[in-house]
Amino acid sequence: MKLPHLEHDVELSEEEFRLLRDLVHEQFGLYFDGTQKESLRSRLAPRLALLGLLSFEDYYRYLRFAPERATEQQRMVSHLTNNETYFFREQPQLDVFASTVLPSLKESRAQRAQRTLNLVSVGCSTGEEALTLGMILFDSGQFFWGWDVKVTGLDVDEAALEKASRGIYHRNSLRAVTKSQLDRHFAPDRSGVRVKDSIRKLVSFRPGNLLDPASYDGLAPLDAIFCRNVLIYFSDQAIERAIRLFHDVLVPGGYLFLGHAESLARVSSAFTPVRFQGAIVYKKQEEQQA
Ligand SMILES: C[S@@+](CC[C@H](N)C(=O)[O-])C[C@H]1O[C@@H](n2cnc3c(N)ncnc32)[C@H](O)[C@@H]1O
Repeated sequence: MKLPHLEHDVELSEEEFRLLRDLVHEQFGLYFDGTQKESLRSRLAPRLALLGLLSFEDYYRYLRFAPERATEQQRMVSHLTNNETYFFREQPQLDVFASTVLPSLKESRAQRAQRTLNLVSVGCSTGEEALTLGMILFDSGQFFWGWDVKVTGLDVDEAALEKASRGIYHRNSLRAVTKSQLDRHFAPDRSGVRVKDSIRKLVSFRPGNLLDPASYDGLAPLDAIFCRNVLIYFSDQAIERAIRLFHDVLVPGGYLFLGHAESLARVSSAFTPVRFQGAIVYKKQEEQQA
């Protein structure tokens, strides 16, 4: 007898595709259009095999109603995400962050006699972006004496976060790292390189769905959010949800950094775009003076 679920060739009907696609979209924002049906099928088929389920309809019911549904939704989403990332990605934007945004944040904090800086990398994957921010802060030399500086990496994919917490990286993650950055921030390790503790102590990682307000508990108010190369996989409707939430958790005058392929032009006017050479940064309105 043929056991289709063991061979990962279970069929996905149009109806099952629609149900699963809508569930993924509603929970996590990721949107699979009709051309990605086979991609959704092949990524989720191993879950059916593992759970001993015979059809995607059964899997859908499991995801919706089983007592273990929250855990399974978590496992499922890690099969659906793209985790591509590397250190010092999109350098022009990082230059703007270092040369313009950081000094302006420091000044506005100092005016209020607040010595805290709170940054988050949303959709941090295996940690390279959050750690890059730590390195930029460290190199700026501006935020240490008596400052409470925090960078948090948040991602829904717990397997990616586990790698982030290990702090060991290989060639692929280092493709944009200069020799001097490598010498300053990494130490050789048996299987690759290890981010130095001077950086790791600035950065922590936590699991969370960026569309869930509870994911920001204890983090807000934030000075800047980096959410780069994440929203390209979202529908416009889910982007709007994310932007509303980012707006809520940022301080007045706080900054939002998106990937270069991502723009708010069509979806939201909640932020003011600030244009620089080779980079756009989004700014939340400053507090109105009474
Ligand atoms: C392509 S990586 C981007 C990594 C990094 N921000 C960069 O630009 O290099 C996208 C990450 O977004 C995460 N992600 C997707 N949907 C998410 C959600 N709803 N909540 C939190 N993270 C999410 C994925 O797990 C993945 O690790």
